[in-house]
Amino acid sequence: MKPELGVCYYPEHWPQDTWARDAERMIETGLKWVRIGEFAWSRLEQVEGVLTWDWLDQAVEVLGAAGLEVVMGTPTATPPRWVLDKYPDMLAVDAQGQPRKFGSRRHYCFSHLGYRAEAARMAKAMAERYGRNPHVTAWQIDNEYGCHETTMSFSPNALHGFRDWLAQKYQSPQALNTAWGNIFWSMEYDSFDAVDLPNLTVTEANPSHWLDFRRFTSDQVVAFNRAQVAAMRPHTDAPLIHNYMGRVLDFDHFAVGDDLEIASWDSYPMGFLEQVLLEEDEAWKAQYANQGDPDFQGFHHDLYRAVGKGRWWIMEQQPGPVNWAPYNPIPQDGMVKLWSMEAVAHGAEVVSYFRWRQAPFAQEQLHAGLLRPDSVNAQGQIEARAVYEELQVLGEIEHPDADVAIVFDYESQWAWDIQPQGQGFDYFRLVFEQYRALRKLGLNVDILPATTTDFGSRKLVVIPGLMAWNDGLRGAIERFGGQVIVGPRSGLKTPDMQIPPSLGPDVAGAKTVRFASLRPNVRLALRNGGHVIRWYEEIEAGHVVETTRDGLNILCQEGHVSYLAAWLDQDAYLRIFETLCGAAGVATENLPEGLRKRSTKDQALYFNYSNAPVVHRDMELASGSYLWVATSDS
Ligand code: GAL
Repeated sequence: MKPELGVCYYPEHWPQDTWARDAERMIETGLKWVRIGEFAWSRLEQVEGVLTWDWLDQAVEVLGAAGLEVVMGTPTATPPRWVLDKYPDMLAVDAQGQPRKFGSRRHYCFSHLGYRAEAARMAKAMAERYGRNPHVTAWQIDNEYGCHETTMSFSPNALHGFRDWLAQKYQSPQALNTAWGNIFWSMEYDSFDAVDLPNLTVTEANPSHWLDFRRFTSDQVVAFNRAQVAAMRPHTDAPLIHNYMGRVLDFDHFAVGDDLEIASWDSYPMGFLEQVLLEEDEAWKAQYANQGDPDFQGFHHDLYRAVGKGRWWIMEQQPGPVNWAPYNPIPQDGMVKLWSMEAVAHGAEVVSYFRWRQAPFAQEQLHAGLLRPDSVNAQGQIEARAVYEELQVLGEIEHPDADVAIVFDYESQWAWDIQPQGQGFDYFRLVFEQYRALRKLGLNVDILPATTTDFGSRKLVVIPGLMAWNDGLRGAIERFGGQVIVGPRSGLKTPDMQIPPSLGPDVAGAKTVRFASLRPNVRLALRNGGHVIRWYEEIEAGHVVETTRDGLNILCQEGHVSYLAAWLDQDAYLRIFETLCGAAGVATENLPEGLRKRSTKDQALYFNYSNAPVVHRDMELASGSYLWVATSDS
């Protein structure tokens, strides 16, 4: 595969006589793809039923004639005002019962069937118009599901849909009562119509009630997306894509991805550091302020590679300062190039920058583009061009499966969000910190969904925080020839979110009998180095291989499977993963602070995220620079 570059462009923002020159300059920058259309509904259908295609026809023609491939977006994240007038109850409602308002974007509830049909109608109209256009060779459906916290909606439409969903799942209210344990606090129902949404209860609602609501909510996103897929499929053979986000976890991305050909995501490393990496301390944020966190992007590259079953893009790459984080510094020169090349090293087919020209109007005036508002090339354009040149040198890149995999499961995120049992317990965080340790050991990491039934050629599989087992995953573990490490807090619930009769985790001869969540300043030293932080389980176990200094059982083993009964700090993870890699025959490479490595079939690429130069082996990398070395002769 030879990676390509692209950009997001809004022809409706600029006079028509500038489009041709813009297109020419995109080609000069080395760009191949241009995404358009995803917010343009009000210009395509100003009045219901009156579709105005001529300007978009013209834009596609101008861009295509210049040699660009168009990614056409369906504009359903920004329904114009008349759509709201038509469906006044289409707004998402927050957990306090307040409807959101018109005046920005994503002002729709996924459960509103009228809006869902309206969106599908628009998607169909666009696919009919451009589905066979030779210049339109990919599609983006909607824009960033989950953005602006609109996935979970407590609207009357959601209530209606939820009752229906429950009736289909349980068939009888008695079955629901049993699954949820509604005898507790006299919460039993005698009809599905008596069940409410789990917000605004006096104290916490039943966790099983919440979990089903989270599952229902996720299914609404899948159904909304699927309605557009179904409307478009008959009219186009071009791949259908969605652009996912960083650390948005409130719907099952694997399930949405099953209906699409390619996964993509929008990567804003510095915005993420400031706004999304909530747990990192001030010193860390200062250290990486102009580079971004060294693992956050890699994690999502690997996640979305899995969501896209190997095919994934960056649909929006940060090109300079953004406007939406609490602080928005300027990226260090070289970082746009580094971020782009890192995505390429993780297997991106396309890296597309957001956006072409900075807009002098509306909400994102202070968000950089590849061009300044006065059309002069910005730093982002210079680095994009440099990436293009580098890609010509790198040529074809192949990405074999990694030796190490980590299981990531959206349901587990919802389960531990509902029942953290301690403020510090965040599932994403748990997985991310284990991922970070693996990456510090110089390892490529594949992410696998919990529906995996075969680990393939992997040698070490890591399964943190998995709420409940399924037979497929258990079978994969049993048949696996490599090492598996499970936990903490894995296999300790049934799918209904009850404690299993065995107590769990049902692996490695361990039984979890009590739980402890820890204050942030509590650290329990391990006998062999490193600490337990945030969480541990008291386990009964046969073969214990690690304890704290105070004698708590932390790690036990049976055959090729280990159970880790605690959340550990980085020192402890590094030590334990290194040992397991040794047992599994996986070579590790301890990387200095801020340096990360990603290997392709024929190259090893090193990325220096730190704010200082690093020396590693015989290499010296300036801050914000990367280097690649050939690892085979081919
Ligand atoms: C993304 C979004 C874009 C733009 C960008 C700004 O979340 O898809 O439309 O708003 O952020 O960083």
